[in-house]
Amino acid sequence: MSKKIFSGVQPSGNLHLGNYLGAIKNFVELQNEKNTECVYCIVDLHAITVKQDPKELRRNIRETLAAFIASGLNENKSIIFNQSSVPAHSECAWILSCIARMGWLNRMTQFKEKAGKDKEKASVGLYAYPVLMAADILLYDTTHVPVGDDQKQHLELCRDIAQRFNNDFEAPNFLKVPEPLIQKHFSRIMSLKDGEKKMSKSDESDLSRINLTDDKDKIINKIKKAKTDTMPMPKKDENFKNRPEALNLLEIYSSLSNQSLEKSCDEFAGKNFSFFKEKLSYLIVEKIEPISKEIKRLLNEEKHLDKILLEGGEKANEFASTKVKEMKKIIGF
Ligand code: AMP
Ligand code: TRP
Repeated sequence: MSKKIFSGVQPSGNLHLGNYLGAIKNFVELQNEKNTECVYCIVDLHAITVKQDPKELRRNIRETLAAFIASGLNENKSIIFNQSSVPAHSECAWILSCIARMGWLNRMTQFKEKAGKDKEKASVGLYAYPVLMAADILLYDTTHVPVGDDQKQHLELCRDIAQRFNNDFEAPNFLKVPEPLIQKHFSRIMSLKDGEKKMSKSDESDLSRINLTDDKDKIINKIKKAKTDTMPMPKKDENFKNRPEALNLLEIYSSLSNQSLEKSCDEFAGKNFSFFKEKLSYLIVEKIEPISKEIKRLLNEEKHLDKILLEGGEKANEFASTKVKEMKKIIGF
């Protein structure tokens, strides 16, 4: 059976190693699988759920595209576009917001985290964010959605919305109920400064993450300063409970070298952290520096980048506008 893949990344700048290992690396592998059609979306409508500077947003959209291409996505193999260029996303999101229940959205932990203490001041868009995400996915008859572990709850909501729509309108299977594709291992890369916090673009300390635009010196310096503990490198069957930083660094090493955590533990058990950190920086530089250089090169080719988005948007629009038209018919418009 053929697979239809859809995923989205926000153009909010500072794409980092967590985005790469948790999402983009996987996008590239799926793109190269047989019988698999992939649609990758730069979700600029999601980005404006928090305040954005227009100039910076425009730059970040191009930078996210550049990161996709530099990581190995190819516009001739996958549909790559930005969300706001396909009107069906907004239209479908409104329809689905009349299907989703307040009670379902009230459970979303990401909203609680992002809105912080003052929920009254959060935008309505931030609250409704997962409904727009469901629209993104459902418009393309998506079968699988590759995301990091943090998006699991949103995917469950998307499945609930699809089923409810099909039931309410007696349109069995009209909206395909998608499966999440969450990597079994290394699906949550943690901050370099705190092994219990997710690596995130919004962390105020730049030392907490490796950005995809970091050069060699920055990478080496950040790994040198990464938090560790005072014990030697762990053995493979050791309990990592009190050593989240050691585990995270070993997971980054394993993921980048495509080997199991056990194998990485075997490689370094008993050695000191400075020895391991040197090998780790070397590996990150080897994998990330070419991407970083390519992003910088591509950013000088604005016309080329804009053309990719324009053509991707046209292809996406063909599919999505048909789906939303069918949807409107079912509803009675
Ligand atoms: P975002 O930048 O929040 O739009 O996330 C883009 C993709 O990267 C999503 O699939 C996330 O689940 C994934 N992602 C973001 N941060 C991390 C992280 N620290 N570890 C693993 N995956 C992540
Ligand atoms: N909410 C996702 C994130 O923050 C981004 C996203 C928007 C997405 N639409 C999507 C991911 C559709 C997968 C499918 O990471």
